[in-house]
Amino acid sequence: MVRIAPSVLSCDFLNLEDDINMMKNAGIDILHMDIMDGLFVPNISYGPMILEAIRRKFDIDMDVHLMIKDPNRYFEIYSKIGVSYLTIHEEASLHLERDISRIKELGMKAGVALNPATSPENLKYIIKELDLVLVMSVNPGFGGQKFLESQLDKVRDIRDMIDKTNSNAIIEIDGGITADNVKLVAGAGVDMVVSGSGLLKGNFEENLSKMRNML
Ligand code: DX5
Ligand code: ZN
Repeated sequence: MVRIAPSVLSCDFLNLEDDINMMKNAGIDILHMDIMDGLFVPNISYGPMILEAIRRKFDIDMDVHLMIKDPNRYFEIYSKIGVSYLTIHEEASLHLERDISRIKELGMKAGVALNPATSPENLKYIIKELDLVLVMSVNPGFGGQKFLESQLDKVRDIRDMIDKTNSNAIIEIDGGITADNVKLVAGAGVDMVVSGSGLLKGNFEENLSKMRNML
């Protein structure tokens, strides 16, 4: 079963509690959270304070996507909040293997995200250590962009790599996912889809049930 992780970036931040309640009531058990620093990506989003506030009210899995330079500066704080998956960008980490080991040492599942132009080749020697590979199907930084079909081949390549090495990593895709293309990405072999505007623009329950039906 493909897991659906709505992206908090598309929520109404003045009514975040209501939005999360609405998602939980619809059966959502994991939230995708985009942390942006204005350096690795042009945009600035939110940080640990907001996650702590969510954690105080909600028992829900947190899938944290760090779009920040030198992400290792922040591993401890996210582990204290109790995030499930902590994903860093391959392009933003100087010592990827060391960072992955540290995330796991701190009790979180470790993910690596790849920008659209980044080849999965570099994951070859660490794939067995990973819990998640995140394929960016838009350039990171903003919600509401158009899905890049070119990334489907990358998903297939990563699926091959995982199967050949008996890695336990799951594949997640992020960017431009809607009910119209979710079947296509599921067919390419993803385990988890992130969707921001595809779910939260308009009626959430309707969008979610359309997406579930397609899957
Ligand atoms: C983009 C973020 C995404 C974003 C997805 O940099 O990583 O998680 O929230 O939004 P949509 O689904 O609208 O493309
Ligand atoms: Zn994301």
